[in-house]
Parts: sequence; C-alpha cells; structure tokens
Amino acid sequence: MSYFFKRALFKLSPRAAERLNIDFRLRAPNRDFLEESVFGYLNELAADAAEDSKTLFVGIDKHNWHYPRLLNSQFHSLDIEARKAVYGQPGRHWTGSATQMADYYGQGAFDVVVANGLLGFGVNTEPDFRRLLEQCKEVLKPGGVLVLGYNDRPDRAPFSVLPVVHEFFESFAPPIPGVDGHVHRIDDGFQHVFVFLRKAKAPDQTFRAELESVASAQ
Ligand SMILES: C[S@@+](CC[C@H](N)C(=O)[O-])C[C@H]1O[C@@H](n2cnc3c(N)ncnc32)[C@H](O)[C@@H]1O
Repeated sequence: MSYFFKRALFKLSPRAAERLNIDFRLRAPNRDFLEESVFGYLNELAADAAEDSKTLFVGIDKHNWHYPRLLNSQFHSLDIEARKAVYGQPGRHWTGSATQMADYYGQGAFDVVVANGLLGFGVNTEPDFRRLLEQCKEVLKPGGVLVLGYNDRPDRAPFSVLPVVHEFFESFAPPIPGVDGHVHRIDDGFQHVFVFLRKAKAPDQTFRAELESVASAQ
C-alpha cells in the first residue's frame, strides 16, 4: 500500500486505518530493537503483573501511532506539540511538556515509562534532562521501569548522560537475548543507546517500623 494512500486513509479515519493494521513504522535497527525486543520484554512484564499495566510513551509521532497495537498495556502518550495529539489514543494523550508531566499525571501513575528520542529533540540541556528524569521518577510507581533511548552523539547529547541517570534510578539488565547489561548500544549511524532503569521500591512497612524502633531506642 502506498504511503500516500495510507496517509489519506489515516486523515479520513484513523480508526479505519487501525482496523486495516496500517502503520508508518521506521525501518532502522534501533527501531526493530525497540518494537520487537524491548516491547516483547515489556509485554512479559505486563503478563506477570497482578494488575493491568499502564505505559507512558513520552513524545509521539506518526511512526509511533501503531505502538498501542504492539504493547499489551494501557497506552498513554504526551507531546509538547499540539499537532502530535492525533497520533495518541483518544482520551489517553496529553499535550504538554514532559518536564512538567507529574503536575498532570500525579505520582506513581505508571508501571512503565518509555522516554525515547527526547535528547537533542527538545530536551537539549543537562538541566532539562534532569527535570525529565525527575518527572519520570515522579510518575512511575515504586519498582516501575524507565526505558531511556537516545542518540549517543555530541550533536544530540552534548553532556555525560549516564552519570546523571544513576543519580535518579537503579539500573538492571533485562532478560532480552543479546543484551548483557543495563546499557545496550546499537551500532548503526544513529549511535542509539537504550538504558534500562528502575525506580527504587519504597522500604516496606516492616523495615520502616524496625528503623523507627531502632531510632526511638537511641
Ligand atoms: C524524535 S521525536 C521521538 C518520538 C518518539 N518518542 C519516538 O521514540 O519515536 C521527539 C518528539 O518529542 C517531542 N518533545 C520534545 N521535547 C518535549 C518535551 N519537553 N515534552 C514532550 N514532548 C517533547 C517532540 O515534539 C517530538 O514529537
């Protein structure tokens, strides 16, 4: 089906285009990894979860429009540009900045946040990046997963990303074949890197009570 026809059908009726399983996917190794391996892993997490899982996709464009069909999770999205709202799910998209998103979503709203392709595409400085991470942490549940993706090139990320990330999140190696640490590099022209992170779980009530009784005995 030609791109022109797909676009025309999408403009006419996104729901009809969805029923025909139309997509505008990008063909690149880092996209294949995100859409097959990362989403496959996130679907396993969702299947193991006791409750329905909620995923927030930060920054959305037409090549992401089919993502709710790939993820077995309630799919929410946001973008700073109002014109991108058409690529989100009706009733589950917000127009606003990721650096202020906790004001909108509140604390602990999501099991998973995917923040891919923000660095150098709107989140351009270290202070902005810190605000993004702080907000991702706010909107994630304790134990929730953040998948961060960016082009590890000075024109996109002109500061040291990983030390900043570790100030906010724990890291882990996901059980994805071919991934052997929390940082996974795709050596294509984009120099894309995925980082697998987790918000620390709050200390449980028993542990907290023990700490309080030790403190009061001193
Ligand atoms: C390169 S695209 C990446 C889209 C998508 N996240 C992906 O992985 O394909 C960057 C998108 O992020 C959006 N964006 C940039 N800064 C943002 C911010 N502070 N808050 C929300 N969206 C932002 C842009 O409008 C654009 O749609």
